[in-house]
Amino acid sequence: STLKILAFAGSTRIDSYNKKLVKIAAGGAQAAEVEVTYLDLRDLPLPLFDEDLEAQEGLPANAVAFKDLLISHQGLLIASPEYNGSLTGVLKNAIDWASRPSPNEPPLAAFADKVAAIMSASPGGLGGLRGLSHLRNILESLGVLVLPHQVAVPKAYEAFNADGSLKAPQKQEAIEKLGKNVANILLKLY
Ligand code: FNR
Repeated sequence: STLKILAFAGSTRIDSYNKKLVKIAAGGAQAAEVEVTYLDLRDLPLPLFDEDLEAQEGLPANAVAFKDLLISHQGLLIASPEYNGSLTGVLKNAIDWASRPSPNEPPLAAFADKVAAIMSASPGGLGGLRGLSHLRNILESLGVLVLPHQVAVPKAYEAFNADGSLKAPQKQEAIEKLGKNVANILLKLY
């Protein structure tokens, strides 16, 4: 069956730099003949995780939808903004919901053995690099193989062309390569 990569950003902002970034990575993966699904977390609003809510009502429909998307994809491309030195609450909340067990599913079915590449864009000089180390740690603790290479794009307000590509050709290639690497590793693994 076709290998699939799920691409999404840890920002719901309509003009999000990180949404632009992950779409570039998704383009790089498509070149390697793997199916890529782009997801906007704005389309899957989730309540703040609450164990009482979970106990009373189970997983909300959007949490199930997000989890099912993760389960049906082998690769992940994630671009997350850095909020106060870490990943966004939106992304952590989505990960927390998807990490919860459902009946008749192996533990951590949404994350175990996925192959991921992570990236970030920020108006700041470090490009959100500090947030990436937290995101890497969380994903690895869930059983995701996170590729060593990651890319942070600083000064995001002046980094993009109107068509969404990056002005710096090396950065554009580096982000495309993240997608290509995930696709190539999946093709080798499966
Ligand atoms: C930020 N921003 C930010 N940037 C950064 O490089 N390091 C940081 O620690 C923070 N902290 C932070 C906290 C909060 C609460 C907000 C709202 C913002 C700025 C952030 O990088 C900027 O808003 C980006 O544009 C967000 O990414 P998207 O939405 O454009 O993808």
